[in-house]
Amino acid sequence: MPNSGPSEIQQAQPAEQQPSGQEESALSPWFKPTADHARPGDLALLVTSDQKRYLLTLQPGQEFHTHQGIYAHDQIIGSRWGSAVYSQLEQPALVLQPGLGDLMMHLKRGTQIIYPKDAAYLVHRLNLRAGSRVVEAGTGSGSLTTALAWAVAPTGVVYSYETRVEIHHLARRNLERIGLLPYVRLFQASIDQGFGQKNVDAVFLDVREPWRYLEQVRAALCPGGFFASLVPTTNQVSDLIAALESANFADVAVEELLLRRYKPVPDRLRPEDSMIAHTGYLISARCIDAGLDPARWVARERQRYRARQKLAAEIAAREAERAQGEESGRKYPRLPLPG
Ligand SMILES: C[S@@+](CC[C@H](N)C(=O)[O-])C[C@H]1O[C@@H](n2cnc3c(N)ncnc32)[C@H](O)[C@@H]1O
Repeated sequence: MPNSGPSEIQQAQPAEQQPSGQEESALSPWFKPTADHARPGDLALLVTSDQKRYLLTLQPGQEFHTHQGIYAHDQIIGSRWGSAVYSQLEQPALVLQPGLGDLMMHLKRGTQIIYPKDAAYLVHRLNLRAGSRVVEAGTGSGSLTTALAWAVAPTGVVYSYETRVEIHHLARRNLERIGLLPYVRLFQASIDQGFGQKNVDAVFLDVREPWRYLEQVRAALCPGGFFASLVPTTNQVSDLIAALESANFADVAVEELLLRRYKPVPDRLRPEDSMIAHTGYLISARCIDAGLDPARWVARERQRYRARQKLAAEIAAREAERAQGEESGRKYPRLPLPG
């Protein structure tokens, strides 16, 4: 399916839900800054010598207060990326361009968020690239939205649905601050009634009961489109994979990513003492033709399990039949054992 251009996308949505000031421009903030130094309006990452990280938008005349002292924006503006600036307490801080992970981790949070490790893999599972059209729900704080927008920009678009009004506004502010709002259409709506988009390349669900929305997902996806979801418990995984089969999805995968960080000490290289042991399970699948028998396309383990269950049921039925035959051919009724 060819991707729709931005003008087509904007026509497709109700006028009152069109984010303001979202025209594409050659100077879109998604593009890498060409200057080798920080300029007014740039997002900058300050890293102090105790490894604290701060994200700030550079504005002439402003100051940034930290426990290491005050950093003047005017001192940061004009500094080469990768150089150091000093607070009035003579404490140094590195001036860096923020990476995608920094943008995600510094969003204001009103909900649980999807972390960079899972988001990076989801972008791969959803097969996103520049120009893709992807739908997601719920928007939450906009952490995954940030990664999705980063992947599909500058010619693609993320359609993101959120029921809670305050969270919808929070996500808008977060995305606006980091310059990715031009690639996102935010809807304050429940996905109960479905999505307003058709023929999108991928759909992602981060809601409590994703299995309830698979018909809506099918209606939005292009033929063979990519679906993924993240859920925190195994019970939810079981419900979702059973429902995916009934709703004609195939190529189902269930995965979990464990990220182990190391203490970067060359002479004593070893893992950090603690790690985040669990974030969520990632489930992905492809939407297949409604006329196909989904049972033929389930995982081989599932096919084997099903065959075993069928065989066990046949054996049990035959044994019951034989027992009944023996019972009816008996001369005398079976007597209870003494005692
Ligand atoms: C865990 S948060 C999403 C976090 C988000 N993925 C992120 O990375 O920041 C789940 C969100 O889904 C929203 N939600 C739940 N049911 C929904 C529905 N039926 N339609 C739209 N949004 C829904 C909730 O209000 C909540 O904000």
